[in-house]
Amino acid sequence: MNLILLGPPGAGKGTQAERLSRRFGFVQLSTGDMLRAAVKAGTPLGLKAKAIMEAGGLVPDEVVIGLIAERIDQPDCKKGFILDGFPRTTAQAEALDKMLEGRKLRLDKVIELKVDDAALTERIAGRFTCAKCGAGYNDLSKPTKVPGVCDACGSKEFSRRKDDNRETVVARLKAYHEQTAPIIPYYRARGRFVSLDGMADMDVVEAALVKSLAVMTNG
Ligand code: AP5
Repeated sequence: MNLILLGPPGAGKGTQAERLSRRFGFVQLSTGDMLRAAVKAGTPLGLKAKAIMEAGGLVPDEVVIGLIAERIDQPDCKKGFILDGFPRTTAQAEALDKMLEGRKLRLDKVIELKVDDAALTERIAGRFTCAKCGAGYNDLSKPTKVPGVCDACGSKEFSRRKDDNRETVVARLKAYHEQTAPIIPYYRARGRFVSLDGMADMDVVEAALVKSLAVMTNG
């Protein structure tokens, strides 16, 4: 099954893509993660993306389209994939259509997670990850069980994304409303689109997602 998870920064796309990936074995394809890996590795692409990401803007379409086109050709994607953070513009959505058509793949569902802007800022400002194993936490919704100690690996080192600050979130939300939200009618008009309440508890959101996929499989 091939899915798109759509939603503003902090809507829970990454959280839910990871859960669906664990549950069903679909591959999570996060353009944000791919770009952060390129930044960390200091590749030419990473150097190009770094300042744009830190300012909360969108990296040029051709860069992310190239990343996804290359990635969906990897054998593990045959199990199905979840696009997390892609497409983000009309040009990316159109490029994805062509990519899928050329590979005789189909998009099974597009799922929007809806969350109030005010809640997003709080969520993003609270997000942190274990610097050693990458486990994700949140000051508000998912603190470590023992303060300052990673539940998964016991490490005491944590990191926060450079773009996870209140100023950059404003720019990221602006980019979402101006450039990404307009692709929602594009997918809605084509069916196989569902909009879910992303304000609910993470487990409740996951259950709603699983239910919407089951309805599709059975119906
Ligand atoms: P990207 O990494 O895609 O970031 P984003 O879209 O801003 O999304 P986030 O990762 O911030 O949020 P999320 O929806 O995954 O939420 P999460 O599950 O982590 O992109 C970063 C940058 O890369 C962009 O700004 C851009 O520059 C560039 N880029 C990436 N893709 C691009 C593209 N296609 N085109 C151009 N540029 C691109 O949850 C957030 C927090 O909330 C977590 O702490 C989590 O624990 C918590 N949380 C999650 N769900 C809930 C819940 N239900 N209740 C309470 N808390 C919750």
